[in-house]
Amino acid sequence: MKFADEPLAYHPKIRSMEDYETLYRQSLEDPEVFWSERARALSWFYPPHSTVDVDPESADVAWYSGGRLNACFNAVDRHAAHRPNKTALVWAKNEPGEYERISFRKLKHEVCRLANVLKSFGVHKGDRVCLYMPMIPELVYAMLACARIGAVHSVVFAGFSAESLRERILDAGCEVVLTANEALRGPKRIPLKHIVDDAVEGLSLVHTVLVARRTDTQVPMHAGRDHFLDEVMDKHRSTCPVEWMAAEDPLFILYTSGSTGKPKGVLHTTGGYLVYAALTHAVVFDLRPDDVHFCTADLGWITGHSYVVYGPLVNGTTTVLLEALPNDPDASRIWQIVDDLKATQLYTAPTALRSLMAAGDTYLETSSRDTLRVLASAGEPINPEAWRWYHDQVGKGRAAVVDTFWQTETGGVLVTPLPFVTPTKPGSATKPFFGVELAVLDEQGHILDKNGVSGNLCVKRSWPGQARTLYGDHRRFRETYYARFPGLYFTGDGCVRDEDGDIWVTGRVDDVLNVSGHRLGTAEVESALAEHDAIAEAAVVGIPHAIKGTGIFAYVVLRSGVSYRSEIELQGALKEQVRHAIGPIATPDGFRIVSGLPKTRSGKIMRRILRKIACGETENLGDTTTLADPTLLDELLEKTVEGAA
Ligand code: WTA
Repeated sequence: MKFADEPLAYHPKIRSMEDYETLYRQSLEDPEVFWSERARALSWFYPPHSTVDVDPESADVAWYSGGRLNACFNAVDRHAAHRPNKTALVWAKNEPGEYERISFRKLKHEVCRLANVLKSFGVHKGDRVCLYMPMIPELVYAMLACARIGAVHSVVFAGFSAESLRERILDAGCEVVLTANEALRGPKRIPLKHIVDDAVEGLSLVHTVLVARRTDTQVPMHAGRDHFLDEVMDKHRSTCPVEWMAAEDPLFILYTSGSTGKPKGVLHTTGGYLVYAALTHAVVFDLRPDDVHFCTADLGWITGHSYVVYGPLVNGTTTVLLEALPNDPDASRIWQIVDDLKATQLYTAPTALRSLMAAGDTYLETSSRDTLRVLASAGEPINPEAWRWYHDQVGKGRAAVVDTFWQTETGGVLVTPLPFVTPTKPGSATKPFFGVELAVLDEQGHILDKNGVSGNLCVKRSWPGQARTLYGDHRRFRETYYARFPGLYFTGDGCVRDEDGDIWVTGRVDDVLNVSGHRLGTAEVESALAEHDAIAEAAVVGIPHAIKGTGIFAYVVLRSGVSYRSEIELQGALKEQVRHAIGPIATPDGFRIVSGLPKTRSGKIMRRILRKIACGETENLGDTTTLADPTLLDELLEKTVEGAA
């Protein structure tokens, strides 16, 4: 079997719905052939001797057994060898108009240097390294350096609080943390090093903190523990051998929210993840050799992992690393970057589109955006209005809009149209990707075979990009994804499959909120609120929000004897509390103080009722007979909701 130095040559070209249907059928009927072909887009040290091995009882899968490869080699070395001067990374800096281009050759050297640094601080294959960094090239170097030496990166979004960071460092057992002195977000500076100091205070586990210098601001350095990244990188050579990893060796952990308070360390492995990230990147974005792929996602989320770093780089594509905020200095920024860099694909979230759309079309007038062929969206349902604006105004009707549905756990896109091939409908993610066999189930667990149905969205069989486990807790993995509908992977989302067989993902059906495309567990926000001295108990629900998609509304029960000067002041304190415990993304949009929460007789909070009341849908509250204390309803219905966004 020959493996690829020219990955694009090994991805299928889909030109018509017939092509899609033929290959989709093959991917299900002959998965051995389909998935072994797809593996050829990677360079392997040892080729795999099988495609997939599934143990349904324990929800265990192994892809590409026997294969050995290295993610960094695939993303960097092979391109550095064949096209050293090609731009791998364009860094679109916080400062308007400032870009830095990094070639594959340079990328290789920097990654190697950083890999040597990690080794010199005792990082070995299998060790976890925490990356709490701004959107700067060093973050990409760090991810790839970990991959090069077989260490497992755990990128923590740099908007999370010290408390959240500490929890994630502890859960993954990270002994080394990389950060920067500061992050720049438009006119603001975020003191990342300071947050890391708080997060690791008193933790003997963390022996090394490496600090990139994004600004000139001085930060206190802890002797023996903290080192400036540039200084230590300077001491090391720019060559470093790669570690040949087994296909199922872990590549990274990425934390995401579940329906309990404890974040889940979603674990992805090497071979299957890379095959899937590269394949979906090539096919969903109609990739061509000279493309400039512009995905606005932060590397703290899965979209950044799969479609800023691994997918594009494995395919040898120039990829944009966006540090700038989309609305800084104004809402024309993204479009300006598209023109400056001649971006061919744009991948962003509906929440960003809604806020840019709200700013008005005049911001589109200063750019042409003529280079764009594919406009992609992910992270939450896209409302038809935003879809149409994306298509008609941003793309001037010439670029294909693809609404891609997927999750941290799926590694890559699961449901999507293919550009210029699949007939689209604003708001529908349309058809499953190759190898993805969807099932829609009713509440009783019956598979709804026909079209024109709605229910719970599941996946019937394994695909290479799927997460393998939750770090340190395989039982939770099984229970979270495979217990609700035995034998099937449950996404946690509801959907409609319309008469044409197109999928419309309607949103989470569990206790997870999707706020501006960020996943938050209601339990996380509730426990953050309950940490405040004044609060006895809290319940949060999602409410419709024009920009965020979903906003957070919190019901709080005060401790007896608590007094406060004004409700506004109390709300301010509670908002601060949530920012402190989780981060600004979790700040509630509205509050209501109540004397108790509606619960079932077994003590479960009836969020369904709270949600309806928060949304003002009080006429039909549904079944309230299971309420433990029916008199509470009168109080809840008494006044209309104040402070809802
Ligand atoms: C939601 C982001 C509707 C969904 C890639 C899912 C979507 C959660 C879409 C995963 C879409 C993502 N249409 N809903 N196109 N894409 N979602 O893990 O609720 O941050 O379960 O992954 O986002 O969010 P995550």
